[in-house]
Amino acid sequence: MGAYDESYRRSLTDPEGFWLDAATAISWTRPPTRALDDSAAPLYRWFPDGELNTSYNALDRHVEAGHGERTALVYDSPVTDTRRTYTYAELRDEVATFAGALRGLGVGKGDRVIVYLPMIPEAVITMLACARLGAVHSVVFGGFAPRELAARIDDATPKVIVAASCGIEPNRVVEYLPIIAEALALSAHQPERTVVVQREIAPGKLGERDLDWATLVAGAEPADPVPVAATDPLYVLYTSGTTGKPKGVVRDNGGHAVALAWSMSAVYDIGPGDVWWTASDVGWVVGHSYIVYAPLLIGATTILYEGKPVGTPDAGAFWRVLAQHHAKALFTAPTALRAIKKVDPNGEELARYDLSRSFRSLYLAGERLDPETYHWAHDKLGVPVVDHWWQTETGWPIVANPRGLEAMPAKPGSATVPLPGWDVQILDADGTQLPAGEEGSIAIKLPLPPGALPTLWGDDDRYIDNYLSTFDGFYLTGDSGSIDADGYVFVMGRTDDVINVAGHRLSTGSMEAVLAAHPSVAECAVIGVHDALKGQLPRGLVVLKSGVDITEDRLREELVAAVRREIGPVAAFRDVSIVEALPKTRSGKILRKTMRNIADGRPDAIPSTIEDAMVIETLRPILRTP
Ligand code: COA
Ligand code: AMP
Repeated sequence: MGAYDESYRRSLTDPEGFWLDAATAISWTRPPTRALDDSAAPLYRWFPDGELNTSYNALDRHVEAGHGERTALVYDSPVTDTRRTYTYAELRDEVATFAGALRGLGVGKGDRVIVYLPMIPEAVITMLACARLGAVHSVVFGGFAPRELAARIDDATPKVIVAASCGIEPNRVVEYLPIIAEALALSAHQPERTVVVQREIAPGKLGERDLDWATLVAGAEPADPVPVAATDPLYVLYTSGTTGKPKGVVRDNGGHAVALAWSMSAVYDIGPGDVWWTASDVGWVVGHSYIVYAPLLIGATTILYEGKPVGTPDAGAFWRVLAQHHAKALFTAPTALRAIKKVDPNGEELARYDLSRSFRSLYLAGERLDPETYHWAHDKLGVPVVDHWWQTETGWPIVANPRGLEAMPAKPGSATVPLPGWDVQILDADGTQLPAGEEGSIAIKLPLPPGALPTLWGDDDRYIDNYLSTFDGFYLTGDSGSIDADGYVFVMGRTDDVINVAGHRLSTGSMEAVLAAHPSVAECAVIGVHDALKGQLPRGLVVLKSGVDITEDRLREELVAAVRREIGPVAAFRDVSIVEALPKTRSGKILRKTMRNIADGRPDAIPSTIEDAMVIETLRPILRTP
């Protein structure tokens, strides 16, 4: 039996032994004597009697082991022309001091802190400072509009917000303080303070409740790590569901630390002292897990990159960073590679850099890896290109090529095999397991392994309703796919109204809510359609109220502006068509899947009535228009 098979089998037949062994990689103030607590099933907890501090594990223990001079963090910011490194000792000190500053503001164990920061070291420092105090951080991505920020403020009810005066996009400086002011005007909950990192390029005007980061830190005493229960929350990260209300995915301390540390060696083949780069954003789960926590938990060097794959300043930016910092591996989204390939299809920018010294593998996730991008990356980079599949909810990969354990042969189109801990099954609508090769719902038999969400913030019922009630004893991933006879998993796409735009997860339901609020709109649908660069783009179809007199151009302008205002620029919503009617089932449910299939040129189901067929035929040319 190979190392993978052995490990996988043991994780399912002896989860106690498997995860208690993995837990020895973490320093506990009280080591766990048990792995799984199933007393409240279907809500499971890991390491119920363990106690630790995640920030201590990410920083102090490496310093105490004599690695204080090793580089922990490399900040590389082409948009501000800055490069800065932090050793483990320096980062520990900065985190301890900011933790002291937060404590001075009354932040303690269990209190929430909203983090609204771009890709600057203060984002990492704030997350780890919260972890140091046992406080719960909730990072909000900068591309969201005030209303989205307000929804998160109301759900997380933070004591403090930590923000920057601005973020920097290639085409503009995004001032954060007006966004926060607008969000606070919309939210019922009011945090006591906002701590602001004043950035030179655009300092903000501080209000009564605002404090300057630098001044606050100058007067702060360092804080020691506070031991917390393994089951205590480390963070809440909001993600899109099928409704407009974002879901607060909870991450615990113990299971998270154990799973992430395990994944760094078993999946990514990265060890202490290796340089690792995840080109994502701290606002997404990929950023939480693989920019901040996992690399630091194992004593590696992590790169924090404030820039884009293209335009900051060119399509060679990723190769420059890899070469300059001697990174061993890169983790990014396929869309980033498509953006580079579009500008530099022949890899001329790549030829300017020597990656041979250290670069060994490329990991891609966040959306389907299309074969063209896979082959382009493989040909141009000459290193293994590893597709792997996971979700905000799971915190670390479900399906991957476990290269650190045993490199499996790749199959194009497959994210490879389920990782230890994940009992992945393909079920039909009745919950019956499907035979090899047949497509169905991808479900995971409970319990989920350590590191996966234990619940949604403050709402066990919503967690059970959304994820655990479709198939008894299983977690519903929301993705469809198949498993072949060799056990390789093929992920085909979402079965719900979640779409993936440039690796950003968005809800078409929340966009529909914005369109439906327009006074001219009687009915609407938003579907995700294929896009060569971003993977998917949202497309809106609206039926006008009778008697309304508005041109398509004007309506489009108003609806595009509304989605940008209500959800944010990240939605990339630009495409609206006025249609006569929307196809529906007999019970009145809009046939979004049929429309998606037509738009993407896939075969669509035969409509059941002549009226339906007529509606679909009228829509066909509109949907097919790129
Ligand atoms: N703060 C404020 N605005 C932001 C933002 C942020 N953090 N991130 C994106 N936006 C804005 C952009 O400025 C843009 O606004 P515009 O409509 O005024 O141009 C809009 O949101 C869409 O941005 P983006 O998705 O970045 O599209 P793009 O066309 O500017 O760039 C890519 C395309 C492919 C280069 C870019 O999407 C990318 O780098 N994707 C990788 C995504 C990724 O790493 N995802 C993480 C999951 S692993
Ligand atoms: P997020 O929670 O933002 O990480 O988005 C998770 C969703 O992204 C998954 O449910 C999938 O639909 C999609 N996804 C992530 N990785 C992959 C992948 N490797 N292949 C196909 N889809 C993916």
